Amino acid sequence: MTFSQDFFIGAATAAHQVEGNNIHSDYWAQEHMVHTDFLEPSNDAVDHYNRYAEDIRLMADAGLNAYRFSIEWARIEPEEGHFDKSELSHYRDVIRTCKENGIEPIVTLLHFSSPKWLITKGGWESDETPGYFARYVRYVMEHLGKELHYVCTINEANMGIQVAAIAERYKKQMMVKMQSGQTDGTVQMGLNLEKMMANQEAAAKERLKIFGVAKTEGFTSPRTPHGDEIVMEAHKAARAVIRETAPHIQVGLTLSLHDVQALPGGEENAAKEWADEFTHYLPAIEGDDFLGVQNYTRTRMDASGSLPVPEGAELTQMEYEFYPEALENVIRKVAQDFKGTLIVTENGLATSDDTRRCAFIETALSGVKACIADGIPVKGYMYWSLLDNFEWQKGYSMTFGLIAVDRSTQKRTPKPSLTHLGGCCGR
Ligand code: BGC
Repeated sequence: MTFSQDFFIGAATAAHQVEGNNIHSDYWAQEHMVHTDFLEPSNDAVDHYNRYAEDIRLMADAGLNAYRFSIEWARIEPEEGHFDKSELSHYRDVIRTCKENGIEPIVTLLHFSSPKWLITKGGWESDETPGYFARYVRYVMEHLGKELHYVCTINEANMGIQVAAIAERYKKQMMVKMQSGQTDGTVQMGLNLEKMMANQEAAAKERLKIFGVAKTEGFTSPRTPHGDEIVMEAHKAARAVIRETAPHIQVGLTLSLHDVQALPGGEENAAKEWADEFTHYLPAIEGDDFLGVQNYTRTRMDASGSLPVPEGAELTQMEYEFYPEALENVIRKVAQDFKGTLIVTENGLATSDDTRRCAFIETALSGVKACIADGIPVKGYMYWSLLDNFEWQKGYSMTFGLIAVDRSTQKRTPKPSLTHLGGCCGR
């Protein structure tokens, strides 16, 4: 299956997950806490900071024509108001290396991790944050804007709301378990969250020492409705700065979107879920040029809420259902309300069986093709992820990559799926 020459076929990464030694970020600080929720710290990650040229070359050799990566705010502004020119030139080099290899750089300005100092100042629940974000964006755009055509302001701007909903569901499950005398904690996501609850008090003291606040409001902390508005304000402020400093740039944000399917009786719940995930953001994104669609699986809902994965279904390492058909459904649903360009900025799966990755990509891309054939303006598809990398609290246990990395030597081994994906590119 191939796409037209102007369609982007690429892969995505995020700075904190691949670069290594992002020492000024809030994630780095949390990873190194005694009472951490992380399975392991990111440390050198997959050393993409030093090996980006090799990684970009591997992509180009396989035939990919786009690379979505993020610029790390904590590197650019490690302390409030102090901007680091050498980090700026690092990212300029990454962008130029992409271009030399015939790869379109698609840059994300915030992918979950923030500078540690931002959290001390109230983080993503503070009214000051959009202003800080806009100042960082201005600095980056004034220096790098002319080199770019596509910028995502914020990755998965709706993530905090989803985390809040999961935390709420988990709390309820725990209450039921405790009331019925069950304390084994084997429910989904159990291990990390349970440890978190047990250590709550000690962790709060530690956070106070490290961040100066007992309750940290990182980008992926459970978000209040006010925090949700702050994220949208940050996006709009960044968009205004980009329009002013680099008006040629196509700008958008990305959203994490499930294929929400209603079973009989579940229509109301499904509609509410879709409104929370997507439609309530429409006023904030209507001035955008594109929307970054990020999808991994489906969610089925009945009258009681979201249902577990169907019995016997194939699971990915993340314990999501293997369901690549979800992408087409999501694109079609989004296109009903959002009339700008769509770019699939993330889609993929964690598996040790690369033949399943190839099958997943094949089905997902044929869905994209069908959408394009029906006139939906889909401009590109970025597989998540280019490399096996640091999957946040789950550490290095998940293998999403098109390229395997032996972290003891940092040696790269492309998987067949890299060539498979590159073969779909029309260039
Ligand atoms: C995030 C990535 C993450 C991926 C797989 C997305 O939610 O943007 O950072 O690694 O999903 O879980």
